[in-house]
Amino acid sequence: MKFATRLSNLPPYLFVEVNKRLAAKRAEGMDVLDFGMGDPDVPTPANLLDTMCEAIHHHDQMRYPNYFGMPKMRQAISDWYRRRFGVTLDRDREVLPLIGSKEGIAHMAVAMLDPGEIALVPDPGYPAYQFGTLLADGVPYMMPLLEKNGFLPDLDAIPAHIAEKAVIMWLNYPNNPTGATCDMNYLEQVVAFARKHDIGLCFDNAYSEIYYDDYCPPSILQIPGAKEVAVEFNSLSKAYSLAGARIGMVVGNERMIEALGRVKSNIDSGIFNAVQTTAIAALEGDQSWMPARNAIYQRRRDLLVPALCKLGLEVQSPKASLYLWGKVPKGYNSWDFSFGLLDRTGVFFTPGSGFGPSGEGYFRLSLTVPDALVEQALLRLEKVRF
Ligand code: MLT
Repeated sequence: MKFATRLSNLPPYLFVEVNKRLAAKRAEGMDVLDFGMGDPDVPTPANLLDTMCEAIHHHDQMRYPNYFGMPKMRQAISDWYRRRFGVTLDRDREVLPLIGSKEGIAHMAVAMLDPGEIALVPDPGYPAYQFGTLLADGVPYMMPLLEKNGFLPDLDAIPAHIAEKAVIMWLNYPNNPTGATCDMNYLEQVVAFARKHDIGLCFDNAYSEIYYDDYCPPSILQIPGAKEVAVEFNSLSKAYSLAGARIGMVVGNERMIEALGRVKSNIDSGIFNAVQTTAIAALEGDQSWMPARNAIYQRRRDLLVPALCKLGLEVQSPKASLYLWGKVPKGYNSWDFSFGLLDRTGVFFTPGSGFGPSGEGYFRLSLTVPDALVEQALLRLEKVRF
């Protein structure tokens, strides 16, 4: 049997590999405390579960969905963007619901790239940017996110001939995996860069609702003229603890959305109607529970950062996102540190190199671990010398 050459460039997904290893450790009897995936443990609001239960009793919810999402769903997204960011969107041309933002990200590369064309990809970054590009036979140009630049790509460091040839650019703030954030001034520079070089800007805002202290993440579509070059991906996974329901969205540039919709309607048949009904209830419903939810993640952040620093680990305190990003101690690489720590303590941090070569030397912790287990992990870590 013969398989596509592109498959040889495609490694197993990071958390497929990680979860396989963790399952093997559990099978050996290890009590694993898993700070790996950003999979919200804070329960989905009860009214959303009730909405889904009610919805599945109706036959119309079981029929084929609209390829481009229910009109009511697109309207709910458009209304939510207006309320949350002051951004106006035409629900029929500038909004497309997705089966989770991950599939939209991978399919966007198929819609935009011809074989051999360049996508600018943050490194470290959410793996779908790089591997979606490879699935489309495109060429990722890795933009290193360096601590000295606040983990923002240095636009001036992108060679002119690469910028001229690049077709799309991926960006993600609040950032996975570094937890970095960016301000409106940086977003203005990015939009100007995309306009100058005629690049389709793909901004991933999946963590827009997870923020701390007095910070509140913006949308790239708040920048004047952004819609001419940009789309923004968002997700209900983290915002509404709906990761398993697989529901997200892309909004903004009409031509990019039409292209992605054309690709998707030839591949998938839309989103389970009951999931869309639940998402509408989430977007249109009471949002006043969110600060209390963010306070839970913030409390864990504030417990973990000083405790890890006391153990000699250098860890940043993020203003948003679900992640802590830290440096592995001298003498280790990311992979050996993470799996060595797992062997010694049963505590798992994701190796930073899993998010790209510039993640080497770092590890990532997700804040989606219940408080009692965070405390257990700290007790175990106290006994370790790095
Ligand atoms: C993460 O943990 O980085 C993601 O949000 C989960 C995923 O890989 O999709």
